[in-house]
Amino acid sequence: MSALATQHFLELEDAGADAIAAMIADAIDRKAARADWPKGCADADSPLAGRVLALVFEKNSTRTRVSFDMAMRQLGGSVLILDAGSSQLGRGESIADTARVLSRMVDAIMLRTDDHAKIVEMARHASVPVINGLTNRSHPCQIVADLLTVIEHGKTLPGLELAWFGDGNNVLHSILEAAGLMKFNVRVATPAGFEPNAEFVEMARAGGARVTLTQDPAEAARDADVLVTDTWISMGQADADEKRVAMEPFQVNAALMTEAKPDALFLHCLPAHVGEEVSEEVFESSHSVVFHEAENRIHAQKSILLWCFGLLG
Ligand code: CP
Ligand code: NVA
Repeated sequence: MSALATQHFLELEDAGADAIAAMIADAIDRKAARADWPKGCADADSPLAGRVLALVFEKNSTRTRVSFDMAMRQLGGSVLILDAGSSQLGRGESIADTARVLSRMVDAIMLRTDDHAKIVEMARHASVPVINGLTNRSHPCQIVADLLTVIEHGKTLPGLELAWFGDGNNVLHSILEAAGLMKFNVRVATPAGFEPNAEFVEMARAGGARVTLTQDPAEAARDADVLVTDTWISMGQADADEKRVAMEPFQVNAALMTEAKPDALFLHCLPAHVGEEVSEEVFESSHSVVFHEAENRIHAQKSILLWCFGLLG
């Protein structure tokens, strides 16, 4: 059996625009080829037969955990799950040693962690691909699924107007990174003091994206193609009353949707706090594609895994 490549996926720019486009195209093809199959059946080519992915969690997860597991099953491989609390990581074993041990035992590692520096350290010491399953800084796997969802719903990325509402967080950072790579525009509506990291805004602009920062949600929503929000309080953040109060005017609700294009999509990575960052009316409306988006985590992870092993394209 020939050796596989070792490409880490810590940020979208590790792959670049051409590879992201190839991931989306591959996800669309693989998804269509297995429509109506039992979810646990392997794809006809089983490209990762015999390969094992370790899923390492220092934070909670439903979608990332299940979608990576199902993705590996559909690619012919399997996963094992390490929760920090029940592994030696939780007792202080170093990331460097964990990376070296896991590299001898499994074929790839996904890490969800509170500290982005830990995944950089993991990649530095691992000799198998390392995948970012969410850090305090970014959530690149989510955004491959989001772009797939937007395209599946008839939108084209170059020139797309995407509007973000609420907290300038890890998910927004990866959207901004994607905007620079895939040439779409982002209107960011946050309360003062909750803007995204300027590094990601600059990255998007340097790539040619138009990025608008505003404290006026209606301005951001006007004629937008896609409206996106996320929880006001991310995992690991302090749950402060002042932050919730500041976020309230940024709720995605029916009044805000009327500012957007009539066929605008609503995206949310989930889990949602319906009644906070999004009203029930919008969450349950025909604009909302959040459960397609969640399902697409499987199809996106498959393409990301294939890219990490040099098997895409
Ligand atoms: N969207 C997302 O990453 O969900 P989980 O936290 O459930 O993995
Ligand atoms: N911003 C959220 C995303 C959860 C998938 C968090 O980090 O908790």
